[in-house]
Amino acid sequence: MQLFSQKTYADRQRKLIEKMGEGLVWIPGNTESPLNYTDNIYPFRQDSTFRYFFGINLPNLHIVLDCATGKKTLYGNDYSIDDIIWVGPQKPLAHYAELCHIDEIKPIAALEERLGGQKGIHYLPPYRHDHMILAGRLFGLDPNQIKKHCSDKLIQAIVDIRSYKSEEEIAQMEDAVNITRHMHMTAMRQTRPGKYEYEVVADIRKALESQHSQLAYPVIFSVNGQTLHNHHHDNKMESGRLVLNDSGAENTYGYAGDITRTFPVNGRFSGRQKELYALVLKMETDSIALVKPGITYRSIHIEANKIMLEGLKSMGMVKGDVEDMVREGVGGLFMPHGLGHMIGMDVHDMENLGEQAVGYGNMERSKQLGLKSLRLARTLEEGFVLTVEPGIYFIPELIHKMRQEGKWSSFVNYDVLEDYTSFGGIRIEDNVLVTNQSHQVLGKPIPKTIVEIEELMNA
Ligand code: GLY
Ligand code: MN
Repeated sequence: MQLFSQKTYADRQRKLIEKMGEGLVWIPGNTESPLNYTDNIYPFRQDSTFRYFFGINLPNLHIVLDCATGKKTLYGNDYSIDDIIWVGPQKPLAHYAELCHIDEIKPIAALEERLGGQKGIHYLPPYRHDHMILAGRLFGLDPNQIKKHCSDKLIQAIVDIRSYKSEEEIAQMEDAVNITRHMHMTAMRQTRPGKYEYEVVADIRKALESQHSQLAYPVIFSVNGQTLHNHHHDNKMESGRLVLNDSGAENTYGYAGDITRTFPVNGRFSGRQKELYALVLKMETDSIALVKPGITYRSIHIEANKIMLEGLKSMGMVKGDVEDMVREGVGGLFMPHGLGHMIGMDVHDMENLGEQAVGYGNMERSKQLGLKSLRLARTLEEGFVLTVEPGIYFIPELIHKMRQEGKWSSFVNYDVLEDYTSFGGIRIEDNVLVTNQSHQVLGKPIPKTIVEIEELMNA
């Protein structure tokens, strides 16, 4: 188990206690999740907030934090001999509690005595059903209503701490991106016409797992890049198609990389692919260039949209005034997702705490296609790490629906778009740290220009 120093956990815990001031905070760690029966399990993934503040990457633990006294109690059971027969010898919880600056350990059965029937316990919105059921039992509430009673104060306190990445976290995030780089360069080298997508996905997983890491999210690797979260890998890759690879590592300290590259199956971009790829690349690099403290990410998303619409206009796909098109949300037809999100221990960092708190603060969310999917809109600050991931997609179903409805008919040349309905999609994504006055792209460079990609694929 990889742990930071005891001081790191002590500092993180102190900040949380100071922000809360008083009351009891309950932070449940994750349990094992059965796949098809109790002992056949999905890979264990600790809750990120639990791991961030209390380090221990083991299942079936809970923390209760008394913010008035500052006392941190771990609830959990050491393995019995019956467990050890199956899973081997384990260090006692006391060993980890010491390393993670936890004051005392109590058996799991004592949790119910401590919290049962109490009002005003601060807890986060649960995303696992076993925690919803447990919270329902502890607090006498319907498990389906449990989220309504979670603590906005605790959410805000945690967002206010985890949003700012420390130097040691940034080092881990660079490590995650560098492992991710290995996954992406492997994919470019292994892709060729006639192979199936799943064969390259297997190579991506080998590149990842041979670095002792796990996936930060399910691999998106598809010639149908126009489907934004395409988790099917059963297509045969044909010459002339592009393939989109959105995949990232979670390293041994639990930090995520989230990178996307799009490249030609046969290693050479066609003229039409070059034109659109260069446009997405400009959207990406120009957006990154704007990243600095004090600017809203919403404004960078809109700027990327303008660049896209200018480019699509020069290709004859749209017409009219770009500002008018931005106002009417025409960009959503081609990029129906947001420009990016916070990243850290979660690929969409702290998404379980709610996107309003993490990505918007006091800002209001748009209802427009594309902009409504922007996960991060708020003013950027030093220490934030975010993704920049513009894309252009030709989604036949969306194009045909909008055409039939007469939507944006004065701006969109639907006849021209018909010619692109089997093009697919392009997305390019990097992970960017907001620095004191500017930004830094994390990790070693991953081939991104047309020349760099073609060189690697034809080496
Ligand atoms: N990597 C997938 C996403 O950002 O949604
Ligand atoms: Mn992403």
